[in-house]
Amino acid sequence: MKKKLRYGIIGAGGCGASKHLNSYSRLSDDVEIIAVCDIIADRADAVADRFNAEAAYLDYQEMLEKEDLDFVSVATPNHVHAPATIAALQAGCHVHCEKPASLTAELVQDMVEAKNKSGKKLMIGLNNRFNNWAQLSKKLVDAGRLGEIYHAKCGWKRRRGIPGKGGWFTTKAQSGGGPLIDLGVHFIDVSNYLMGFPEPIAVSGQTYSKFADGQPFNPRASGYTGTYDVEDLAVGMLRYANGCTMQLEFSWASNIDEEYTFVELYGDKGGLAYAKDKLTLIEDFEGNILKSNPVLAPDENWGNVESRHFVECIREDKEPIARPEEAVIIMKIICALYESAELGREVIL
Ligand SMILES: NC(=O)c1ccc[n+]([C@@H]2O[C@H](COP(=O)([O-])OP(=O)(O)OC[C@H]3O[C@@H](n4cnc5c(N)ncnc54)[C@H](O)[C@@H]3O)[C@@H](O)[C@H]2O)c1
Repeated sequence: MKKKLRYGIIGAGGCGASKHLNSYSRLSDDVEIIAVCDIIADRADAVADRFNAEAAYLDYQEMLEKEDLDFVSVATPNHVHAPATIAALQAGCHVHCEKPASLTAELVQDMVEAKNKSGKKLMIGLNNRFNNWAQLSKKLVDAGRLGEIYHAKCGWKRRRGIPGKGGWFTTKAQSGGGPLIDLGVHFIDVSNYLMGFPEPIAVSGQTYSKFADGQPFNPRASGYTGTYDVEDLAVGMLRYANGCTMQLEFSWASNIDEEYTFVELYGDKGGLAYAKDKLTLIEDFEGNILKSNPVLAPDENWGNVESRHFVECIREDKEPIARPEEAVIIMKIICALYESAELGREVIL
């Protein structure tokens, strides 16, 4: 019988417990949950108990030194992703690190270099790539059904949805920014993935912070200091070396009718639009417009598919779908948009 993989987690908050530990605990033929680390002692103990882990730690360095782990998840606030991931890779672990990979492209590049040096796997938690609509869209694009893609749009807009207001999510030094880095990372990633990662060459955008005072703060948020120094809306436009362009729009709070996410791809042979869980394909056939809505199988739980894929990658020595090398490009785009908003002009990459 194959030996179970010894697993530990760094960061046992909402995502660590509900996505990572829940999904890895379902893979009990393959994975043994050994240790839980969180800087909040009660949380580390309670989560370790809940998932029958052998040990709870307050310090990830200590956990990595004492436990002989095969792989770890990193589900901490964003500013801890790079140091914890690099430490885990150097300790000989494969790493499943949450999105956004880190705060800057340089830090994500350091993570890629640590991964290459260690010979271990590193996957970023970009779960939207695993959705049925995204996988079918990728096949349609790769089969040439859209022809040349010359423009794209993507966004995720919330009416009222600021996470942990006053905690680490709304503190730039810990999160790197607001909805652009938090939500934007998902849909900028999936759009670029579908387009085959053309080279971005210029970004211009604007950010707004209009809801810092409007909604109640949440003193129970992790890392609460009452800080709100990030945007709540980011809009932008990107140019790629192949002539393609992309418009983006991400908000945590806006006065809109309802929350929605969307990706639109404009090709010279066809177009694809994903919105409100529906995928629409438009094609030109001898001057006639054909419109189809593929019947998509319901998505399996987002964490389960991703975690099962990562275990498969470790077991079968495969490259993960969500590669950190591509996360470097996504982070370049995000940081350039923040820079453009600060400078008030287009930024050339
Ligand atoms: N893939 C997704 O769609 C998705 C969804 C939610 C969150 N996330 C990501 O997961 C990460 C965590 O988000 P969350 O909502 O769980 O936040 P959270 O605040 O609920 O949990 C973060 C936990 O990390 C702990 N922590 C902080 N510093 C630490 C350190 N040095 N060592 C160990 N533990 C530490 C905190 O005490 C807290 O318990 C973020 O990067 C977020 O972007 C991803």
